[in-house]
Amino acid sequence: MSVSLAIEVIPTGTVGAEVKGVDIARASKSEVDAIKRAWYRHDVLVFRDQKLSDDDLLAFSRHFGALDSPPNQGAGRRSPPGYPDIYVISNVRDEAGEPIGALGDGEAAWHTDMSYLARPPDASMLYSLEIPAAGGDTYFCGMKAALAAMPRELVARIKDLDIKHDGTYDSGGNLRKGLTATRDPRTSTGTPHPIVIRHPESGERGLYLGRRLNAYVVGLAIEESERLLDRIWSFVETAVYRHRWALGDLVLWDNRTTMHRRDAFDPKARRVMHRTQIKGSGAPARAAV
Ligand code: SIN
Repeated sequence: MSVSLAIEVIPTGTVGAEVKGVDIARASKSEVDAIKRAWYRHDVLVFRDQKLSDDDLLAFSRHFGALDSPPNQGAGRRSPPGYPDIYVISNVRDEAGEPIGALGDGEAAWHTDMSYLARPPDASMLYSLEIPAAGGDTYFCGMKAALAAMPRELVARIKDLDIKHDGTYDSGGNLRKGLTATRDPRTSTGTPHPIVIRHPESGERGLYLGRRLNAYVVGLAIEESERLLDRIWSFVETAVYRHRWALGDLVLWDNRTTMHRRDAFDPKARRVMHRTQIKGSGAPARAAV
């Protein structure tokens, strides 16, 4: 029996799409299947006007795989009481003056989540609970489009190379709790991954860069690595979707095909977001080019 779905997928540009006609707290198997198909195609999906408890967010996230633990940020690991798989991103402080979440009110640089691990998460989801009147927008860049925009000579140069992804600093540039500051990416904590990867589901190719700070092209002299990284990074904003948050927005992104960054916002305003991470189904795999 075929089921007709009310889901509508409206692209937001080269990267991203808004999905209408689904209540995430009650998504059926066929709706989740349709969402996955749209996700592999558009890489970032936006669901507006959702009303999700933490349990709803966890239940929807589990449709995409097992959950990964939150990252260790400058503020350590921050989760709501009783929900260790949810990661709080917030500038709000509790009565004791301790941050309830990570990343504060500052800008967060382009990054893909937790790429310093051997098996970075496949996906992340971010749900807005409190937002500032202005600022704090999140941007997503398409790494398939970035690769496609590169000249053949550059692709030929990088296709067999790896980048070491540094795990010392978070995307706000803060030293992760318990780690030692360093600016030498050759010896810092982190993991090398291929620069050009293949998406395991769609088979499409994209760049996999992680973050710029303390990145290192394995085997090159530092100066040469920096020059090559600057050239590669000049393509990352080829296709960008800017998300202006409203309350109740849920955004799902693919960490293998996108990076994201965030604008700063007024420190006196409150911003509270709950995020989940979907465990990596495998290490990023080199694409044949
Ligand atoms: C993140 O990097 O996951 C945070 C993005 C945001 O705060 O908008």
